[in-house]
Amino acid sequence: MAVRVPIGVVMNGVTGRMGYRQHLVRSLLAIREAGGVPVADAQVLWPEPVLVGRSEAKLAQIADRHGLTEISTDLATALARPDVQIYFDAQVTSEREKAIGQAVAAGKHVYTEKPVATTVQGAVELARAADAAGVRHGVVQDKLFLPGLRKLRRLIDGGFFGRILSVRGEFGYWVFEGDWQPAQRPSWNYRAEHGGGIVVDMFPHWHYVLEQMFAPVRAVTAHVTTAIPRRWDEQGRAYEATAEDSAYGLFELHGGIVAQINSSWAVRVHRDELVEFQVDGTHGSAVAGLRGCRIQHRAATPKPVWNPDLPVTEAFRDQWQEVPDNDEFGNGFRAQWEMFLRHVACGEPYTWDLWAGARGVQLAELGLRSAREGRRIEIPDLVAGGAA
Ligand SMILES: NC(=O)c1ccc[n+]([C@@H]2O[C@H](COP(=O)([O-])OP(=O)(O)OC[C@H]3O[C@@H](n4cnc5c(N)ncnc54)[C@H](O)[C@@H]3O)[C@@H](O)[C@H]2O)c1
Repeated sequence: MAVRVPIGVVMNGVTGRMGYRQHLVRSLLAIREAGGVPVADAQVLWPEPVLVGRSEAKLAQIADRHGLTEISTDLATALARPDVQIYFDAQVTSEREKAIGQAVAAGKHVYTEKPVATTVQGAVELARAADAAGVRHGVVQDKLFLPGLRKLRRLIDGGFFGRILSVRGEFGYWVFEGDWQPAQRPSWNYRAEHGGGIVVDMFPHWHYVLEQMFAPVRAVTAHVTTAIPRRWDEQGRAYEATAEDSAYGLFELHGGIVAQINSSWAVRVHRDELVEFQVDGTHGSAVAGLRGCRIQHRAATPKPVWNPDLPVTEAFRDQWQEVPDNDEFGNGFRAQWEMFLRHVACGEPYTWDLWAGARGVQLAELGLRSAREGRRIEIPDLVAGGAA
């Protein structure tokens, strides 16, 4: 039997949607159920969660449900434990920067949900502090590990597109206002003062998708609106939505690719998936969602002629071909956790670090500035060790 190498992980925000479902249950506990993360010499990395949060009762309930024993409502005490090597953060966005700073000061490696901070200055300071402390760091970039985007990556690597021209992304769904049906997202998402807003939430995702799949983002032009200005919270109380719930972004990439991504919690879905990206290239096009990916090669491209006097002559959607899986795609959050654990324990390379996270926050911050000032904004390089 493989020898277990324990890695203590402080998990902060584990009572939340992401912390509980994706990171605790579907990642660390799933890794344990599968026998750990195999590494060389018949060893497996064995995550040992230490659950941290504000409510002891809620933490105890989760621990009991999953046969865990280590809980704490005091972050400093949990970080002082010598058996803890990693600090993980899935708290509300506004609480993150302070907590990560504490973890870095305690000499712990850091893995965190996005966005890493609410300002680019805060994000850069965290990245610098983590580098200076010599700890390893990583940021969740889950969309890259989704089957649909992995198929898209495969198409890019295989040269399917020829020269890529443009990317059009459509993300969103209707988030209920909370009066006649409860909202399916937490109310802090709609309050700017609590780190809410769809730009801070989604632009960091669009940043790493664009940068890692296509090319770095050179300039942003954005327009934002608050489509639903009054919502009802978890207790049924009416509140004013102080953050935008819809963002229309135009991203110019190095090399000339143009990306446009709409993000909205006030649209109804007439798509196959909650997010879809259409990529058009000289040799072919693809539409990738979370799971599926369809393609149309140049040789199979129809030749429509614009004539509004005639009914549609072809079933355009039927002319696309599904990309086969050709692989097993596990949960993306878990796949990234496994890589981070190997990075910490074995020094394996890991590119999705706090600097990558800071670039995501930068795109959100400059996107919001673009919207406020009504102009296009170029993105300066953020260089490790300082902002260029
Ligand atoms: N990677 C993704 O796809 C993805 C998706 C959704 C959310 N997120 C990110 O995950 C983080 C958590 O989002 P969520 O949807 O799980 O939120 P949530 O409201 O469900 O959970 C928030 C967690 O933070 C804790 N918390 C700590 N201080 C708090 C405070 N002062 N007020 C309220 N809660 C506090 C809560 O107890 C809870 O455990 C956010 O930063 C969000 O941006 C990422």
